Amino acid sequence: MPDTESAHRFVPPHWPIAAGKPNFVDLWRSTSNTLLGWSHEVYSGGVYQAKLPGAPLVIGDADLAAAILVEHADAFPHGEQFDRLFRPVWGRGIFVSEGPEWKWQRRAAMPAFRADRVKGFAPIMVAAAERTLAAWRTATAPLNLHDEARRLTLRVLLDAALSGGEDFPSIADVSRHIDEFLSRIGQFTLSDFFPMPDSLRPSTAKRGGPSTAWLRDHVDRMIARRRKQAEPRGDLVDLLFDAVDPDTGQRMDDELVRDNLMGFIAAGHETSSYALSWALWLVASHAPTQQRILEEVARVAGDAPLTAEHLDDLVFTKQVLQETMRLYPGATAVVRTAARDIELKGVKIRKGTLCVLATYAFHRRPDFWPDPHVFDPDRFAPDRQTPGRPRLAYMPFSAGPRVCMGAAFAMTELTLVLATLVRAVRLEPDPARPVELAIRLGGFVAKGGMWLKPVPRAL
Ligand code: HEM
Repeated sequence: MPDTESAHRFVPPHWPIAAGKPNFVDLWRSTSNTLLGWSHEVYSGGVYQAKLPGAPLVIGDADLAAAILVEHADAFPHGEQFDRLFRPVWGRGIFVSEGPEWKWQRRAAMPAFRADRVKGFAPIMVAAAERTLAAWRTATAPLNLHDEARRLTLRVLLDAALSGGEDFPSIADVSRHIDEFLSRIGQFTLSDFFPMPDSLRPSTAKRGGPSTAWLRDHVDRMIARRRKQAEPRGDLVDLLFDAVDPDTGQRMDDELVRDNLMGFIAAGHETSSYALSWALWLVASHAPTQQRILEEVARVAGDAPLTAEHLDDLVFTKQVLQETMRLYPGATAVVRTAARDIELKGVKIRKGTLCVLATYAFHRRPDFWPDPHVFDPDRFAPDRQTPGRPRLAYMPFSAGPRVCMGAAFAMTELTLVLATLVRAVRLEPDPARPVELAIRLGGFVAKGGMWLKPVPRAL
């Protein structure tokens, strides 16, 4: 029975939708949580720009967002701020490059992320889920889903992007350094955003910190070892070694391979682990959804281990993930900077304006998503697509030429892992510890953790 017809209407917590304009304190704090800087207009399809020097233009109009991200993408690079903040961490890689330097790398690396290539990682993904299950089967106390999901997605990244992790002292070390590296990336101060000479800013070169240096060093050593190995592993390292610009024949040097692997770690770890922990928590909190996944997996795979061949048939499991990322997108917004004065859809945008495209607002607009705060995976059912809904009403992976490269990788991983876990254990939320929403690195987390008890199902 579809959830929409069930008596169990489930409204998980949501970030408050602004009723007015942000005050000065909100704007101050919006450097670490962009949602605090959005006014009510943004949630009803308008735009908002605070009257402060350097204040971003927050865009709640999904058609204007499409004009910026898709139709006029050339006029909207990430911009000087993004470059200043992230180049110390990601060097010359895809994330921070622009123009021809970005284009050739993206063209060369993209085949590695095509859905058919990504399917090759399915055994790694299912094995990571099985390892998690082995620990869950003997768990006696509730577990923090954020930690569990982070460990699982890290295991996948180690195997897919870091050569199995054998060049690192231990998984615990890598995990600690990645956490530190990511939290440094997400630390901003107002001085990072205000227009002022760079000489007056605290050094942005220190942004990466010792963990960035530690990771870089180990990734460099891993690349050097892998270059000497004749036998390919078919992982992302090999795929980047083999990446070649079809037009020019250009290949990536070791430094560029490293910068891109560091980018994949940052892009793929936290985002996927948040999506997985929210999906598991939503499933645990909504019994009809848990039951439907269980029935779907039984129908599609019987008792056999899940493989890439089952992916196309795990339709409802995928809908659950799509709905999870609508409610809790891994990035609450996407940013761009106007490279020139431009007028789009009647809005004048001055050169240098930082544009914040309000993903979270698009995902919660009642005109796009009736009853927007209700968890309803059937919104994504093939027969429920709403004609006339703008293309960017749903953009967890962004859109346009810079759309997330890892979307197929993430969906493959999340679908196989969610199906594998739900089939083996019944998930029960811990009523003593309700979820309290917070933001970390532009994505939603549960403040004191997300607690759940996995109860093994009878075989
Ligand atoms: C649920 C998981 C994920 C989510 C929600 C997500 C979301 C995003 C978003 C919103 C962007 C920004 C695009 C823009 O600026 O317009 C992005 C970019 C990117 N993502 Fe992901 N991502 C996920 C997983 C991954 C994974 C697993 C990888 C790789 C292993 C990856 C690789 C990238 C890369 C390379 C870019 C930069 C693309 C470019 O600038 O051309 N992502 N992602």
